[in-house]
Amino acid sequence: MSIINVFLIGPMGAGKTAVGKQLARRLGWEFVDSDREIEDRTGVDISFIFEKEGEEGFRQRECKVIEDLTTRHNVVLATGGGAVLDSANRTVLAGRGYVVYLFASVDQQAERTRTGRNRPLLNTEDPRARLGELMEVRDPLYRQVADLVLHTDGQRVTQVAEEIHRNIKDSVEPGAGSFDP
Ligand code: S3P
Repeated sequence: MSIINVFLIGPMGAGKTAVGKQLARRLGWEFVDSDREIEDRTGVDISFIFEKEGEEGFRQRECKVIEDLTTRHNVVLATGGGAVLDSANRTVLAGRGYVVYLFASVDQQAERTRTGRNRPLLNTEDPRARLGELMEVRDPLYRQVADLVLHTDGQRVTQVAEEIHRNIKDSVEPGAGSFDP
């Protein structure tokens, strides 16, 4: 069966957005990012939504956006790290595209998210401990929906995008502007 979409899942700091952009370029597909889409729709940033509506309000918005974006064709979608918590999200992700779990160790996640802002769940005394707690709950859910699991520790964005591309290229229809270096 041919692959019509690729959905990237995994924790904060796994590189979903950076890898997704490169992969989309290789495929000649559109890149979309669920967090970015939520920000575009609301006109405010993720932190502001958490502040005003709590995590629950954010998850409702995330669910709607994932439902919408997964109905498209020929997109690479980078999801937020918590998208798999919702069972409806897991169902549409697994059913409407090829799901890649970008795994990163907690140390690597902590390193890569150290300087970033706009990640309200990491506004705590000990962000590394928080990342560890989140992974305990989420790792089995990521694995449950993934068609492919890739370890990203110490890997460059280009290598990861290339590895995904190698795995799927015989099963996708090339987009108009695809390029395969
Ligand atoms: C979250 C991850 C974030 C964003 C929000 C919540 C999470 O996305 O959706 O801050 O629950 O792990 P990234 O994984 O793109 O950082």
